Amino acid sequence: MATAAVDRVKESEIDPIDVTRAELYAEDRWQEPFRQLRQHAPIQWVPESKFGAFWSVSTHKQILQIEALPKLFSSDWRYGGITLAAESDVLLPDEIRQPMFIAMDPPEHTAQRRTVAPSFGPSEVAAMKEECRQRTGEVLDSLSVGETFDWVEKVSIELTTGQLAKLFDYPWEERHKLTEWSDYGGDIEMFRTPGMMSTRNDKLQEMGMAFAALWQQRIANPGKDLVSVMIQSDAMNHMSEEEFIGNLILLIVGGNDTTRNTMSGYAFGLSQFPEERAKLEANPELIPNAVQEIIRWQTPLSHMRRMVMEDTDMFGPQMKKGDRVALWYISANRDEEVFDDPDSIQVDRENARRHLAFGYGIHRCVGARVAELQLITLLEELAKRRLRVNVVGEPERVPACFVHGFKKLPVELSRY
Ligand code: HEM
Repeated sequence: MATAAVDRVKESEIDPIDVTRAELYAEDRWQEPFRQLRQHAPIQWVPESKFGAFWSVSTHKQILQIEALPKLFSSDWRYGGITLAAESDVLLPDEIRQPMFIAMDPPEHTAQRRTVAPSFGPSEVAAMKEECRQRTGEVLDSLSVGETFDWVEKVSIELTTGQLAKLFDYPWEERHKLTEWSDYGGDIEMFRTPGMMSTRNDKLQEMGMAFAALWQQRIANPGKDLVSVMIQSDAMNHMSEEEFIGNLILLIVGGNDTTRNTMSGYAFGLSQFPEERAKLEANPELIPNAVQEIIRWQTPLSHMRRMVMEDTDMFGPQMKKGDRVALWYISANRDEEVFDDPDSIQVDRENARRHLAFGYGIHRCVGARVAELQLITLLEELAKRRLRVNVVGEPERVPACFVHGFKKLPVELSRY
């Protein structure tokens, strides 16, 4: 293994760059290392990181190619999950692993995705629009112009948690638990010490128990919410309680801090590009395109990971069966081969939709339309009120290579 690792390093033009280091994200310094990788080593073997060894894939084209080959590059949870955190040298035997379809290969993935996907179709999402608009308007109307507040807490978290509570018909007054559980679910830095891991496990167990109770309650009293729809669908007959709960967790974790961090990315990003903000304020018809551009620029999930199922040299360097592969969406979305001046926000960028923030292929985000609905609605409701979000202090960022976002963002609203 050690010799193989050395050979792989030699195949690369430059020394391995460990882009998993939390400080790169805490200090917003990840752009240059990825630029180096795209230029000199689009697929690079990293023999050592706090998350173990892995292949780093950093260009748009190669991520597309790998995602199109799910048989060769598996997502199966039994090989350690879909982030780099699992299978590291700090993995504990009692780590909670819930089977969920993001971490499955066909045919299981196909069947389970089919159960959930219809609830996120165009007409289903269109039916959510009015409620989303009203809720978003209420949140904005509760804020005072000219006063400093934390955008993450008051807007990003409030809106995304509210949306999930509505989707599941979850008790409204307990909706903040969804945020807390989701934060633990997505925090891969907690894999680093046994103490943190045990806290994370306790929280995930609490979440599992709450969802088991919800499941029982909806079996007895089905409604029109997503949980009831899933229970009543044909594919559910083949799903165990454990799998069902795993998929509920997937929807909460998948839908929560991703959309949240795009909302925060909007506020922070446009404050960095005031001319683009002015363009958007003058041309609200650009909102749908601007939303794609902000999703590209923010890329709220930096990576997903896969497992190599057969030895292959189809990408140049020799990948071995059992190697782990990180697909760095955060880098693909700044790939200068695809996006002109990629570090800038351009609200009218022609190819903004080519971003890979939702992934690609059979696992492409199921909830993309719900995320877009929430983001478009937020921007439209701000525009309707002629509200501008001004960043008035340093943001606090999530120090991690998976969830890419903000813990705190001090802002003030003004009218234009
Ligand atoms: C899958 C990103 C919002 C539910 C994914 C994947 C990514 C992603 C990168 C994996 C793709 C792959 O492996 O190729 C995002 C982003 C969002 C967002 C950036 C917001 C801007 C949501 C929402 C929900 C959701 C709102 C649900 C309420 C899911 C589910 C999967 C998924 C269930 C698994 C799909 C599968 O494996 O077939 N998402 N997501 N996501 N997402 Fe999202």
